[in-house]
Amino acid sequence: MDRRISRLAAITAVFVVAIILLRSSYPASGSDRSSAAGFSRNVRFRPSGFDWTTVPQRYPVPLTHELPTGPAKELPRVQHEFSKYKHDATTKQRQGAVRAAFVKCWNSYKKHAWLRDELTPVTGEGKTTFGGWAATLVDALDTLWIMDLHEDFFLAAAAAAQLDWTNTTDTSVNLFETTIRHLGGLLGAYDLSGEPALLEKATELGSMIYMAFDTPNRLPGFWLNFENAKQGRQVAGINDPSASPCSLSLEFTRLTQLTGDHKFYDAISRVTDFLERTQNNSTLPGMWPKTINFRDESVNESGFTLGALADSLYEYLPKMDVLLGGREPRYQRMHLSAMDVVVDHLLFRPMLPDGEKHHDILFAGDAYVRPDSIDRNPEGQHLSCFTGGMFALGGRLFDVPEHVAIGERLARGCAWAYEAFPTGLMPEIFGIVPCPSIGKPCPWNEDLWSKNGDKTLKKGFSNARDPRYILRPEAIESLFILYRITGKEELRDVAWRMFQSIMRATETVLANSAVADVTVQGGTTKLDEMESFWLAETLKYFYLIFSPPDLISLDEFVLNTEAHPFRRPK
Ligand SMILES: *[C@@H]1O[C@H](CO)[C@@H](O)[C@H](O)[C@H]1NC(C)=O
Ligand SMILES: *[C@@H]1O[C@H](CO)[C@@H](O)[C@H](O)[C@H]1NC(C)=O
Ligand SMILES: *[C@@H]1O[C@H](CO)[C@@H](O)[C@H](O)[C@H]1NC(C)=O
Ligand SMILES: *[C@@H]1O[C@H](CO)[C@@H](O)[C@H](O)[C@H]1NC(C)=O
Repeated sequence: MDRRISRLAAITAVFVVAIILLRSSYPASGSDRSSAAGFSRNVRFRPSGFDWTTVPQRYPVPLTHELPTGPAKELPRVQHEFSKYKHDATTKQRQGAVRAAFVKCWNSYKKHAWLRDELTPVTGEGKTTFGGWAATLVDALDTLWIMDLHEDFFLAAAAAAQLDWTNTTDTSVNLFETTIRHLGGLLGAYDLSGEPALLEKATELGSMIYMAFDTPNRLPGFWLNFENAKQGRQVAGINDPSASPCSLSLEFTRLTQLTGDHKFYDAISRVTDFLERTQNNSTLPGMWPKTINFRDESVNESGFTLGALADSLYEYLPKMDVLLGGREPRYQRMHLSAMDVVVDHLLFRPMLPDGEKHHDILFAGDAYVRPDSIDRNPEGQHLSCFTGGMFALGGRLFDVPEHVAIGERLARGCAWAYEAFPTGLMPEIFGIVPCPSIGKPCPWNEDLWSKNGDKTLKKGFSNARDPRYILRPEAIESLFILYRITGKEELRDVAWRMFQSIMRATETVLANSAVADVTVQGGTTKLDEMESFWLAETLKYFYLIFSPPDLISLDEFVLNTEAHPFRRPK
């Protein structure tokens, strides 16, 4: 974009924000949630054009996996004891700035892309990316509630309860994305608001998605193809991302908890059985590979990661323990044995020049198993930045203090990577020259750096293979979890710098946009994309880190991989 135009855009944006700030009466933090009662609660369920519960299962199974009953385990407290917490003026002002950013995007979505999956934040149009079922609206519902935007919450909830899953031009639905965004979004909004129509809509969607499990071995494919499902012609995939069938568990479990219908929990428990059977049979025993042949149930692929393709498989193991109140010990077992392998083979520490302030940081890279070695790929990904939060949460739940410490080093690693680029943003994928080990001292080696580093980047980096920033949440997600767990106030300052950089680099007249290259000096090139996770996750996590810690306490809620809060059992 031309310099002058971008300056004009910036001035207009400031003006728009000022107007929004003036017009929205921003309630004090921790305001009375019963204020929601003042708005019309006209949220009515309208059934979709097709009832999937009428389609018989071609491969029926008895529902042998019932939700575990019995007394819930007393899980350790997750959050720091914030007994002397004060919501000071600086934090309030930061919280207000995040809310203003959200309101601006939401108003543009309402005006230019209402009921569409996404707003294009530069050109101001609607876009269909996930079936055409208002992905941004459904994904943003619980953020509206959390930010006390109750009038808009009820407006959006009313529209969500009217969605018709037959109103699509697609012939298949992406099982994973629809589960985490739409099903998760409806369930999170229901858990906060208690609006019955949202649970009815979630159940209807759940019944559609449940059809994907109707395969010979009850493991779902990547796509739910409507025609194949109706005709009982589905099979599991032979080369699917492991995260796809293996991170539906939180949503399906919550659906069974809320409806009492055991089929949902039964369906995902069979996937968990598969994970348990195969955990020690991969080429890196303890972990599951990036892609899996779910049809033949073979896990012999050689690539392992906590990033793209596998990420939320791992994220959901400790979170399932939370949602089930510790009643199913296998999730803890699988998590802890996987993390042992992660520590041994995937974590790496960047080699940094002496004097570099934040020396003690970590990243989660990839591993490739060769016939007689295990090769590490010291590559950071924005997607794998969630691991800081995962290690810390698991460390708290299962009383492994070293894992909380590793979690903090990982979270600080991503925050450091943000600040290492001129825009203050971390690239989507980048390489780093690693230390030989994560535990031992790691002196700077100029020769090693000269051989492997990229001289155009800050010392330490070897490349910025994918230099985009697409408004992703994982870095602030981990900072938020670490703040709630450790109570270290200075993490909020880190988050504030991150927020300001993101706003500077991504803000458009209407909203915020993914950018093409975070390694540039000066203005960024906008890609005219704003995925629904910007409102569902990124801005929610920024808002929550600047909110009083009892707002969505991690001792009351567990968040799905799209940041939708599910209520934990009492
Ligand atoms: C179908 O979806 C589109 C958005 O993709 C929406 O504009 C339209 O109102 C919907 N139609 C019905 C009948 O729900
Ligand atoms: C896998 O191996 C680990 C470590 O050897 C062991 O603790 C665990 O019980 C095994 N898991 C299964 C399901 O056999
Ligand atoms: C996993 O490995 C064990 C022993 O190594 C074997 O007995 C078992 O059949 C294997 N399971 C699968 C699903 O391949
Ligand atoms: C993995 O197992 C499948 C059978 O499910 C086999 O066809 C394939 O050759 C195996 N790959 C490797 C690398 O061993």
